[in-house]
Parts: sequence; structure tokens; C-alpha cells
Amino acid sequence: MKELLEALREASRQAIDEAVDMDSLEALRIRYLGKKGELTALLKQMGRLSAEERPVIGQLANQIRTELENELDSRKAALAARMQELKLQSETLDVTMPGKEVKIGVRHPMYQVLDKLKEIFIGMGFAVVEDREVELAEYNFDKLNEAPNHPAREWTDTFYFTEDSSILLRTQTSPMQIHVMEKQKPSIRIIAPGRVYRKDEVDATHSPMFHQVEGMAIDKGVTMADLKGTLNEVARQLYGPDTVTRFRPHHFPFTEPSCEMDIQCYRCRGKGCPTCKGEGWIELLGAGMVHPKVLSGCGIDPEVYSGWAFGFGLERLALAYFKISDLRLIFENDVRFLEQF
Ligand code: DAH
Repeated sequence: MKELLEALREASRQAIDEAVDMDSLEALRIRYLGKKGELTALLKQMGRLSAEERPVIGQLANQIRTELENELDSRKAALAARMQELKLQSETLDVTMPGKEVKIGVRHPMYQVLDKLKEIFIGMGFAVVEDREVELAEYNFDKLNEAPNHPAREWTDTFYFTEDSSILLRTQTSPMQIHVMEKQKPSIRIIAPGRVYRKDEVDATHSPMFHQVEGMAIDKGVTMADLKGTLNEVARQLYGPDTVTRFRPHHFPFTEPSCEMDIQCYRCRGKGCPTCKGEGWIELLGAGMVHPKVLSGCGIDPEVYSGWAFGFGLERLALAYFKISDLRLIFENDVRFLEQF
């Protein structure tokens, strides 16, 4: 009996020493000390011992039990410490390692200009409205007082969806004037930026899709002086306080009188250079006093209210603003180009 106990002591010690994780330690505890364990099994045979042997063996068995319990505990503590150490090692953060570079883009140069414009107009009490690009010919042309035979209505110029030429991709942002006036009564101050479409071949100054910004102010007693004052202020905020502008008479069906606004070339200061094609001036936008027919068509009495409107191509403005020479660069999204802004 004594030999069996000693053998168990030896075997269990070794097994506990070799255990590599908590699960195998628990399995050993059950194997040796559990109710159906090996030590318990040996003790059940005590009945066969003599009266002298029994206390001696009993004491030895208890001693072995205590020893095993202690060994299990200390092995458990050692394993826990080791695991903690491994965990710390695997989770160390080397703060001296170089970081991963996160590449952040910049806002597209054209939208940078648009943001600036919005800021300027919002500062003057204008609201920004955006709406549909698929439009009725009625809004794109008729309600803007464009004649039935206006060349812009040709199938060679405009993208139509229907054989009867009633639905199209808007060719200008001016129909936004009509949408706003039909919904809202004066006073009205809006700008309407957005995409427009024309059947143009792509070259350095043309694209079948481009952006326009429309603007309109309607109220009692609004005159051409308001138009000039506001647009001059916008030009100065955009291009600098000493920007020189001029207004030339022009024709648009939806305004009367109509004009075009130029700024003096920012490069040559009016002397004439390649940027302004020797003119000294750069054309900026079309504008005018909203035609009485357009007002009354939207239920606004032209005897009571008047207003001015303007429209311009955003790409052209952005090209001029950043002194970029080719329109295609705006759309190609070549990172080497975009990185420069
Ligand atoms: N819609 C015109 C165009 O596409 C631009 C324009 C001119 C808009 C005069 C206006 C305006 O509102 O008053 O060429």
C-alpha cells in the first residue's frame, strides 16, 4: 500500500510539472483527487490493512493529498503568470514604429470655387436651391420665353427623352427660376447650382455635361442698379477688392434688358494677353432684368414686382479662378492634377 501511494505521489508530481495549461491541470486534479480519483480509490482499500498500518497509511495519504493540492495551486499560479506575460508580449505597442500614412484627398477645385460662391451669396441673404436635371421642355424653354424655333431646341443641340421633344436633360439652370417662382412668392433671393447638358464634342472649352450657377432676386422696386451692385460685390469678393468689371448689352429671351458681365483680365490688367485672347477682358456671366412675361407666367405681377437674374458656367469660372488652361482637367480626376489645389 505504501509503495502504491509513493508511486502515485511521484507520477502525479511529474504530471503536474508537465501540465501546460489550465484545462490539463484541472483534468489532473480530477484524475488524482476527484471522488473517483486514484487517491480515493487507494484509500478505499484501507479496510484490508492491519490496525497498526492503518493510521500510518492514513497519515501518508493525507500528506500526499495536501502536497498534491499545494502543487496544483502553485502550478496554476505559475501558468497564470506565464500566460499574462505572453499576452503582454503579444500586445505590446511599439510607439517608435513609423505610422501608416492615411491619404486624405482635397475638395475638387471646382467645388472649392462653388463653396466660396455659396458663402458669398448666403452672406447676402440668398438661399441655395438644387433640383431636377431631367426637365420638361416647357420649363427649360417655353416658360423662359424661348421662341418655338429657338436653335437651342434642335435635336442636334439638346438631349431629348421623348419623340415629341417634351422631356429633356436641362440645357441650363434657368428653369430653376420658374420652379422657385411657382412655389414661392416674393421676396425671392436664390442661387441654383447644378449640372446641365448639351450635345457638344469634348474639347479644351466644351463638354456635353457641365455646371451652371443660376441666380435670381425678385422684390418690389428691384432695378438694374441692384443687379450691378450685387454682381460687382460678388466679383470683388471672389477676385479681390480692386477687381474691375464692365457690363455689355446682350440678348436673352428671359431677361429684358439683358447684359453680359466681364472682368478685367487678372493677368494683364486689361492690356491684352493670351489669357484674355488680347481682349483685356474676360466674359464672366449673362444677366438681366427678369422678363415681365416670365414673371406673369409664374403668377407674379410685373406691375408690382421686378427682379434680376444671372447665369454662368461654373467650370469656366473655376478655370479662371485657378488659372487652369484646359476644361478636360476638371473632369478627368487625375490625382496629379487634383493634388495641386
Ligand atoms: N441660361 C443662360 C445660358 O445658359 C445663362 C443666363 C443668362 C441665365 C442670363 C440668366 C440670365 O438667368 O439672366 O446661357
